[in-house]
Amino acid sequence: MEKQTIAVIGAGPSGLAILKNLREEGFLNVTMFEKRDSIGGVWAYSADALVTSTIPYFPPHPDATQVLDYIKSYAKHFDLERDVKLNTPVKWVKRNAENTAWKVCIESEKNEEIRDFDKVVFCHGLTYKAVTPEFEGMEKFKGKMIHCQAFKSPAPFKDMRVLVVGIGNSAADTSTELIDTAKKIYLSHRGGGQDSSPKIERVATRPRDQRTKEQVDPSWRLKPAPSLANHQPVISDNLVSSLAAGSITSVPGLRRFVDGETVELTDGTALTVDAVIFCTGYEPDFSLNQDFSPLTSAAPKSPDLNSNDVPRARLYQNLFPPEFADSLVYMNYFALTDGVIPISDLAAMVIAQVWKGSFKLPSEQAMNAEIDEHHAWVKDLAKDDSVYTGIIRPGPWFAFLNEAAGTGLNENLGYGLQGWKFWLKDMKLCNLMMRGVRTPFMHRMFDGRRKKWNGAREAILHANELAKEYK
Ligand SMILES: Cc1cc2nc3c(=O)[nH]c(=O)nc-3n(C[C@H](O)[C@H](O)[C@H](O)COP(=O)(O)OP(=O)(O)OC[C@H]3O[C@@H](n4cnc5c(N)ncnc54)[C@H](O)[C@@H]3O)c2cc1C
Ligand SMILES: NC(=O)c1ccc[n+]([C@@H]2O[C@H](COP(=O)([O-])OP(=O)(O)OC[C@H]3O[C@@H](n4cnc5c(N)ncnc54)[C@H](OP(=O)(O)O)[C@@H]3O)[C@@H](O)[C@H]2O)c1
Repeated sequence: MEKQTIAVIGAGPSGLAILKNLREEGFLNVTMFEKRDSIGGVWAYSADALVTSTIPYFPPHPDATQVLDYIKSYAKHFDLERDVKLNTPVKWVKRNAENTAWKVCIESEKNEEIRDFDKVVFCHGLTYKAVTPEFEGMEKFKGKMIHCQAFKSPAPFKDMRVLVVGIGNSAADTSTELIDTAKKIYLSHRGGGQDSSPKIERVATRPRDQRTKEQVDPSWRLKPAPSLANHQPVISDNLVSSLAAGSITSVPGLRRFVDGETVELTDGTALTVDAVIFCTGYEPDFSLNQDFSPLTSAAPKSPDLNSNDVPRARLYQNLFPPEFADSLVYMNYFALTDGVIPISDLAAMVIAQVWKGSFKLPSEQAMNAEIDEHHAWVKDLAKDDSVYTGIIRPGPWFAFLNEAAGTGLNENLGYGLQGWKFWLKDMKLCNLMMRGVRTPFMHRMFDGRRKKWNGAREAILHANELAKEYK
């Protein structure tokens, strides 16, 4: 294991979690390549319009600077930076001629270098490739038109009438950021889904700010809310109150651009605007590997599974390509409807256990069969609504991650014999782990394959105490 060479591409939260977990399991020859001059991924601000990054002081709590400080302290605590090569973009990855290793082409200080690695982990970001939809007449528009990837500050929009397109977290952040700078802010979004599964408010408010829920006006069309099965909730401290105060105006979806300054909405309304900011999301990028793509993998598949709408990557558990499961992992595809960072850590534990050989994946054929089944589920979910292509099925996915990482959560939390034993032994902790705040410390609580952390119990109790402040 110590001899195996592993390249990790990207020093964001996922890459750092991979480096830490691989090292913990005895992989001592891991090199991480980061194209920027800092670790932290999207949490490290970049002025480059083509680099996705958060604005340092935003969102208000915790702000991006605090999250970045946390990520840096994690890297320092586990002494990760000694294996990180900053300012070193990976240009491409290819299979070597002998079909035994991956060639990784890196650029450093004007040199180009090609190095062989046994394994490669792609951690170059879930929000790397921005998506701007095509709209009729776009080319006629004379105003400012950007994707929110390029939104670095509200200042360039001073006194402008701005149309923000979309109603994901980026749209909520961007529109609220523009308050006090832009002259008029329109939040343009298409309606929610008609799914009959349980709904929550589309725009969630913090529990301590419950009063804003009462202010939701039907004319904003935040309801019917789409299902949480395929949409992230929009968590915003001040979107609802800003809509209520009239500092942001909710309008229907964008239909077309009429001329240099006019857009038409789906209800036929014409708006005069100076700028349009597309907060229309991102798509996974597989272009770095020039010899293999999970999107066009030659693996067998049922003919109609990838035939409609967008192609879906053939990745077992949205991580491992079956034909190269022992040497490639993609950490830039799984899409959750909740927070990413602790889950990257859990997925990283799985990768370390699988490559160490202490957890065996199913046969290639069985993995392909599961992928077909999963794609059929995604396709069904996407029937009447938009959906992240890499969406995971939370129940089975977390069960797999916990089993493969060996966290002991499947066995100890539940109604089996072991579950009851744990409940009898430590009722308070058991109840908090079942119904309290979900924390990453839970993944290190029980004996199991991955390393246990003796501070886990205290950390779980502490996190639940802190959470009371928000009740
Ligand atoms: C504005 C915004 C706010 C967000 N807020 C939250 C939140 O509140 N909670 C949450 O859980 N998630 C949030 N997210 C999701 C976010 O994607 C994750 O928190 C997390 O950053 C994902 O980590 P990552 O390491 O997978 O990717 P990233 O953070 O994107 O890191 C990828 C890294 O790879 C590097 N890289 C890319 N290409 C190359 C290359 N060719 N060679 C070398 N290096 C390369 C990049 O420079 C970057 O450092 C937010 C995302 C955005 C855009
Ligand atoms: N503060 C935060 O926590 C924060 C801030 C920013 C980003 N993020 C994270 O970053 C990731 C990306 O978020 P995001 O908001 O950029 O993207 P997103 O969640 O994918 O949302 C994209 C939005 O654009 C709309 N859209 C997509 N295509 C469209 C089209 N052709 N026409 C009209 N509308 C269209 C979608 O509408 P439909 O829903 O109708 O498809 C959706 O409202 C998420 O994981 C998110 O949680 C988090």
